[in-house]
Amino acid sequence: MAVVIACTRERRAEDPRVAITPETAKKLVDAGAQVRIEAGAGAGSAIPDETYREAGATVVKDVHDALDGADVLFKVRGPTAPEIAALKPGAVVVAMLDAWREKDTVQALAKGKITSFAMEFVPRITRAQVMDVLSSQANLAGYRAVIEAAHAYTKGFPMMMTAAGTIAAAKVFVMGAGVAGLQAIATARRLGAVVTATDVRPASKEQVESLGAKFIAVEDEEFKAAETAGGYAKQMSAEYMAKQAELTASHIVKQDVVITTALIPSRPAPRLITAAHVASMKPGSVIVDLAVEAGGNVEGSKPDQIVTTANGVKIVGWASLPGRIAADASALYARNLQAFSGLLIKDGALALDLDDEILKAAVVTHRGEIVHEGVKG
Ligand code: NAI
Repeated sequence: MAVVIACTRERRAEDPRVAITPETAKKLVDAGAQVRIEAGAGAGSAIPDETYREAGATVVKDVHDALDGADVLFKVRGPTAPEIAALKPGAVVVAMLDAWREKDTVQALAKGKITSFAMEFVPRITRAQVMDVLSSQANLAGYRAVIEAAHAYTKGFPMMMTAAGTIAAAKVFVMGAGVAGLQAIATARRLGAVVTATDVRPASKEQVESLGAKFIAVEDEEFKAAETAGGYAKQMSAEYMAKQAELTASHIVKQDVVITTALIPSRPAPRLITAAHVASMKPGSVIVDLAVEAGGNVEGSKPDQIVTTANGVKIVGWASLPGRIAADASALYARNLQAFSGLLIKDGALALDLDDEILKAAVVTHRGEIVHEGVKG
């Protein structure tokens, strides 16, 4: 029997992405799978149900019809409790589970004997680059953060010389120069802003400078050793964070827009901007906190809100920036998942090899147990 891959509509209003697009549905069907899509699943990404049908998928009316007897569920975010309950034991779930924070979902998946894979745990090895959802989504989030900032800002980004006088270029400061931060730098530069950026990894300095931005950081001995073998940032010492806060204080008063993207895998986001920093900024300044869901880089940022402070600074905390550029985000995410499906499905049937390096790193629950070391405790 052909493997049945289902895709349901995302339930969070602010996240209209979808995990299968007509393009990837066709590829999955060509690989021997049956694809079932819940009606309306693509609507937030401007994909009508009809386009799925044309690609060879079956469009069904609700979650129950989508998941009844399904072998695999593809999702953007982790599945809801009713979705987990509708799946048969032994079914496979693939999603950005956010597994170290969403403990209830992980426990429900284990209880339901679902084999679940967290796409955020896919290792960044060459073979898995095509499955790298962190990169595909962070890149778009970085772009969108600048668009959101430009929207909330009451001035322009480029310098403009007009008969009525000159408008100064906006000063944009990007904190955290990983995938999202680098795209934010590039986007702000394209809009004509004067851009500075910071990070704790020395390797980021050259990347920032190659995009035409100025690099600013506390470059002490700890900074020189801040990158893990995997290319991620380490959690910095309290001493380093104090020095960084001092540098931020002197720099941030001169900025019009600040975009924060700093994350540390499987830990709360580092607090980079305090209420005192915010209070020192000019009225009309804008801060976009990309790390809001991981606890926030900015004191006072709130998920899915724009907070305006007493001194007139706007703190933008959209929880799903990729969801605000949903059609592109879905297209890339769906390709990441379709590539991942090649590790799950052989000759149109489910065939899991949990010794595969990628599956081993990404599996969270299997046969009733939480099996991922980072999530167990
Ligand atoms: P991330 O999303 O985990 O973090 C974002 C940025 O925040 C990172 O650059 C990190 O160094 C920075 N950060 C953490 N703590 C900070 C602090 N206290 N102050 C300032 N900045 C702080 O990182 P992302 O975007 O996932 O990139 C991590 C690394 O992985 C980069 O070196 C990137 O080039 C690399 N990478 C490798 C890939 C591959 O080999 N296939 C694909 C994508 C990224």
